[in-house]
Amino acid sequence: MNKQPAFDEILELVKECELSGRELREFAMAQLDTLPTYDWSGVYVLDGEMLHLDAYVGAATDHTEIPVGRGVCGTAVAENKNQLIEDVRELSNYLSCSAFTRSELVVLIRNGETILGQIDIDGHEVGAFDEQDERFLNELAALLAYRWE
Ligand code: SME
Repeated sequence: MNKQPAFDEILELVKECELSGRELREFAMAQLDTLPTYDWSGVYVLDGEMLHLDAYVGAATDHTEIPVGRGVCGTAVAENKNQLIEDVRELSNYLSCSAFTRSELVVLIRNGETILGQIDIDGHEVGAFDEQDERFLNELAALLAYRWE
């Protein structure tokens, strides 16, 4: 399936809207919610050694604060690297938000070298996300970083 047209449309909407800060992040997460395999979409904001849940769409989660180094989200920051997880059941450090979640993609939001936070998406199918999703979310992350405050 070619997901690019839907991705391009979302990037265009986010570019064109006049929101910033948390309002922009809420708008962007609502757009992600329209994509078929995106069952939970959220932003975590990094403050020191802790990630704090910010805008999100999907079921409420217990993991509103995640220390750097813990889970998929904390590992992304600790390793300064996006995390594309085909099957969360193969991980030992996974923090479960929902019993339905089978795959996950975490993409860092950076301003230059500084990590501001991350976009975290969960899917109910194994292998719901691939490099195309990662490239798209990298572009979205850059737009969010640009209007972070
Ligand atoms: N699964 C994540 C926790 C966040 S929830 O997916 C919303 C992790 O292992 O860090």
